[in-house]
Amino acid sequence: MAQNMILLGPPGAGKGTQAEFLVEKLQVAHISTGDMLRAAVARGSQLGLKANEYMKAGKLVPDELVVGIVRERIVEPDCSGGFLLDGFPRTIPQAEALDAAIAQLGLGAPVVVNMQVADEELVTRLSGRRMCDQCGMILHITREGLDVGAPCPGENCNGTIYQRSDDQAEAIKQRLEVYKQQTQPLIDYYDAKGQLLRVEALGTVEEVNDRVTDALSGKGIV
Ligand code: AP5
Repeated sequence: MAQNMILLGPPGAGKGTQAEFLVEKLQVAHISTGDMLRAAVARGSQLGLKANEYMKAGKLVPDELVVGIVRERIVEPDCSGGFLLDGFPRTIPQAEALDAAIAQLGLGAPVVVNMQVADEELVTRLSGRRMCDQCGMILHITREGLDVGAPCPGENCNGTIYQRSDDQAEAIKQRLEVYKQQTQPLIDYYDAKGQLLRVEALGTVEEVNDRVTDALSGKGIV
């Protein structure tokens, strides 16, 4: 059966960064609800208009909106070989809705990788994060030294580097609070179901990647 996975962790834990490596290595579809919602905002679609205010304020978009887009996404053809969920689920009702959809579709139960990082480091990572407006490349100002307005360093990309509107101090504080209240309970939820792998996500991107790979190989996934 195709391997499905979830990357769980606080904002700035490095889920998007590690997802880039994992989808390449495992050849599975990358489903980032944050990316999907940002694309909807950029398009000015109905979903984007509804989601924008929540996102800017660092709050969660209502469950029914996010569950709907994920349900539609996991039945697309590129998900038949497995998918990696990044940023979903984020609440217990979202996890229950995902379980129900997976059971209904006869898909494999996902392995959940929980990425653990201390709050101080999360603030440093988020406040220094920069992204490409075209290819979505994730950068950090102290690592790549590129700030807002610089050209994207990606091959064949004509994009420009920007800073996410929710990577400002107030929104970061709010997101970390929301994580503790609404998303952290998912650690126990998946642990109780025997689906959870814990990974220490401090250290360089490569060190964390090695730890994620080790944890998955312990389950025979890589
Ligand atoms: P989303 O885009 O999912 O944001 P998030 O979960 O807050 O996660 P981030 O993207 O901020 O962090 P990340 O863990 O991916 O870290 P990254 O790899 O970029 O969601 C945004 C918003 O959309 C939400 O607030 C909400 O409003 C809405 N939303 C999305 N999904 C939703 C859902 N399911 N339900 C309801 N609402 C939803 O790394 C961060 C930085 O750290 C980068 O600069 C990176 O270069 C750097 N970095 C990464 N790894 C390392 C390392 N090992 N060492 C040093 N630096 C590192």
